[in-house]
Amino acid sequence: MMLQKALRVLSSRGRPNGQGIGLMSRSISGNAVSSQELIEYESDYSAHNYHPIPMVFSKAKDVHVWDPEGRKYLDFLSAYSAVNQGHCHEKILNALSQQAQQLTLSSRAFHNDIFPIFAQHLTSMFGYEMILPMNTGAEGVETALKLARKWGYEKKHIPKNEAIIISCCGCFHGRTTAVISMSCDNEATRGFGPFLPGLLKVDFGDADSLKSMFEAHGDKVAGFLFEPIQGEAGVIVPPKGYLQSVRELCSKYNVLMIADEIQTGIGRTGKLLACEWESVRPDVVILGKALGGGVLPVSAVLADKDIMLCFKPGEHGSTFGGNPLASAVAIAALEIVEEEKLAERAAEMGQVFRSQFLDIQKAYPHIIKEVRGQGLLNAVELNAKGLSTVSAFDICQRLKERGVLAKPTHGTIIRFSPPLTIRLKELTEASKAFKDVLEHDLPNMQRQSEGNAPHSPPEPCDRCGRIK
Ligand SMILES: Cc1ncc(COP(=O)(O)O)c(C=O)c1O
Repeated sequence: MMLQKALRVLSSRGRPNGQGIGLMSRSISGNAVSSQELIEYESDYSAHNYHPIPMVFSKAKDVHVWDPEGRKYLDFLSAYSAVNQGHCHEKILNALSQQAQQLTLSSRAFHNDIFPIFAQHLTSMFGYEMILPMNTGAEGVETALKLARKWGYEKKHIPKNEAIIISCCGCFHGRTTAVISMSCDNEATRGFGPFLPGLLKVDFGDADSLKSMFEAHGDKVAGFLFEPIQGEAGVIVPPKGYLQSVRELCSKYNVLMIADEIQTGIGRTGKLLACEWESVRPDVVILGKALGGGVLPVSAVLADKDIMLCFKPGEHGSTFGGNPLASAVAIAALEIVEEEKLAERAAEMGQVFRSQFLDIQKAYPHIIKEVRGQGLLNAVELNAKGLSTVSAFDICQRLKERGVLAKPTHGTIIRFSPPLTIRLKELTEASKAFKDVLEHDLPNMQRQSEGNAPHSPPEPCDRCGRIK
């Protein structure tokens, strides 16, 4: 019964009379289906992965999203920075529909007439000689790990099966088995072992510790993998000079410097790549998310030939990587970043965002611990004591009720990363909503949650035993 109802919901989409996908469109025999019902269907039929905010997206354009009831919201998550160009950008949709009518998939068992154009565009825009296209970010990271190992054996002459990759405490690079083998997040790792061998960890932002590790293991270290700003960890910006030190150490110890710019890249932090803030050129760059313009999963690894050609024909692959549809979408997504000067806009609007939120912090210093970020990748860290029994998740729910969508990360941190097309008026709307939540909602929330269990203290990491 439930399934039939759900199927009718799905088949009611795309009706030619304008009641297709759109506001209040999911009707069953004329009855509107509410956000609440859709959330229930989802929990009946879909496995768990995230902890979603109870909000159903039904339609989106640029920085705005509508739910099935027709309520309008400002998107301050941008699908974890995958929608840098704004939702449903006309140029991307045109590229998608034109290419979809021409050719969608060749697989790379053959060549197609659009992937080479995408490859040329991406290499010249980012200044690398070659790309290796994949689909999701995690696949991009996996590809970079394999490339580093291969390079380590072929070029650095590391003894067979002894190559080491160093990554950072607090990192997030995706959810595959190899990638979670580098994670310090107990939720992501517990119950999923055994993990990949050949991985070591170092504190993020600590160049001295990295140097010690290179001194101890340098002849076996193939790569150092890092995020220039740790996104999922709560927008952790490393100390000034860190990226330059990493560059120098990697060059000195002949280790590949591998920047995961999946979240920070493509203009998000106010430069095309976040590494540009310290004028640093990594040996390997991984891109994803906004490379697909918020429309398709597109990721890529960039490197020069002396590294990339360590992969020989047949040694790596992906059925969909470099497919014509994704290539056409990615070209449009990259052109928009250049044409609309999105990196420059992110730098400018990011300054405005932080100054508005720093003003709020001045009014609520006991609630807001820190406002930080670069460009339009920002976070507000709340004070657990000041919040009392209220959580950052509760704050995000109230923000949603006031028309702003943001997502907490790690209990007390809220990340704000709107599309890079955002304007001053919308930034100001969002900061006002946040201030209103602190001023008008928080006291009531605190009263209502009195007697609830206080925040449980953060757990030590299973790997190193430390509390972050
Ligand atoms: C820095 C970084 N790397 C990799 C990934 C994984 O990307 P995907 O979810 O597309 O696999 C993410 C996703 O949030 C990320 O932020």
